[in-house]
Amino acid sequence: MNEFDPREYWEGRLSRSYTLGDVGWLGLGTGLNGWMYRVRRRVFLQALQPLIENPAQARVLDVGSGTGFYVERWHDLGVPAVTGSDLTQTAVDQLAGRHPSDRFTRFDVGSEELPFELGSFDAVSAMDVLFHIMDDDRFARAFQNISTLLRPGGLFVFSENCLHDRRLQTKNWTSRRLADIEAVVADAGLEIVERRPMFVLLNAPVDSHSRALNASWRLLTRLARTRNALGAVVGAALYPLELALVSRLREGPSTELVICRRRGSGRFAAAAADAAVRGR
Ligand SMILES: C[S@@+](CC[C@H](N)C(=O)[O-])C[C@H]1O[C@@H](n2cnc3c(N)ncnc32)[C@H](O)[C@@H]1O
Repeated sequence: MNEFDPREYWEGRLSRSYTLGDVGWLGLGTGLNGWMYRVRRRVFLQALQPLIENPAQARVLDVGSGTGFYVERWHDLGVPAVTGSDLTQTAVDQLAGRHPSDRFTRFDVGSEELPFELGSFDAVSAMDVLFHIMDDDRFARAFQNISTLLRPGGLFVFSENCLHDRRLQTKNWTSRRLADIEAVVADAGLEIVERRPMFVLLNAPVDSHSRALNASWRLLTRLARTRNALGAVVGAALYPLELALVSRLREGPSTELVICRRRGSGRFAAAAADAAVRGR
């Protein structure tokens, strides 16, 4: 039996085609994926804006950059130059061509080799990356690696399906239990300052047993698979409702955005603590 090789899988996936449809939900096309990324953009910017006090000076690392969507979001926040990274040489080469003012390095976040100076980043992002690490030891090491790359008080933002009552696994992703993620975060010397829904309707409701939500997602994906344009139309129609839901709900049925800070002190630490208190 062939073992799943993440590097081979992602090199193959990204070298065949390199769009948001390829780093997003495979098979749903750029139509629906485009709207899912618009939601991600709003949630990410809304959550991070209050925490980044001096973006012009911030040293930021994006892990698992893919097509560079979050490298661009850090620019939106006012960070002039970002360090991007990915497991694949394919993404690193493409990104270097697209973003000449940023720098890109091949980096497996779950490995023992760190190609960056310890404590050298004010903020790190790893969006839709960590649930692709199948092995639990490598998953835990990813958090430890990121923690050691952050300066004390630095921010770590990631997305995960934080499941409340089960663990789900396919060939290339693992949705872990919230309690297990919280334990790994704490072991790595990080502290969660915020957790909020990234999606309600526009992603698989893996953390919900609601028949209505599950049926709605099945219908949505069937339409998107039938025609790319249909996915775009339904995504556009649901977008305003999705934004209203993600901003109102505290717990989400799907992927969530989690913000941590490395224990210690510093300028981000104070802002993160303030924002967490304001959000209560
Ligand atoms: C689902 S895509 C997300 C890309 C991007 N962060 C986004 O949200 O658009 C996952 C990305 O993580 C990369 N990746 C997977 N495992 C990784 C690992 N262990 N270390 C670093 N990058 C990894 C893949 O090559 C791919 O580019």
